[in-house]
Amino acid sequence: MTKASKSIAIAADHAGFALKAKLVDELRDSGYEVRDLGTHDATTSVDYPDFGAAVAQAIASGEVERGVVVCGTGIGISIAANRHAGVRAALCHDETSARLCREHNDANVLALGARLIGDVVAKDCLHAFLSTDFAGDRHVRRVAKLG
Ligand code: RB5
Repeated sequence: MTKASKSIAIAADHAGFALKAKLVDELRDSGYEVRDLGTHDATTSVDYPDFGAAVAQAIASGEVERGVVVCGTGIGISIAANRHAGVRAALCHDETSARLCREHNDANVLALGARLIGDVVAKDCLHAFLSTDFAGDRHVRRVAKLG
């Protein structure tokens, strides 16, 4: 495993801050080097596009191969991340979608909605996202068309 593949960038807005903190701990406990790109408190209102952009930038620079973004619904920050070249962000609400976004879509960013899912499901999504390989084969052609 390369340094970049063992490093994860993570960011959230104020609505996602508390879940992000738990996911940072989970990642560190699992042996990942975490690049926590903010936000750093739940009380200051911030704009989710800035945090989607921060994770996209960490991927574009080659610093990390994968990222996690969190906002209230996961919708805004996934849209934001997906506006950046090279990002395939998948908004997931369960372990199966987190597994399939890797197998079929080669997703490199996991998006979660802190106001919609509980901590246990979020951690299940995280582990499925990190432990599942892209299936390749017919999916290669389709993912290439996303570029
Ligand atoms: C913040 O109130 C909320 O709008 C944001 O976290 C997110 O849910 C947007 O999609």
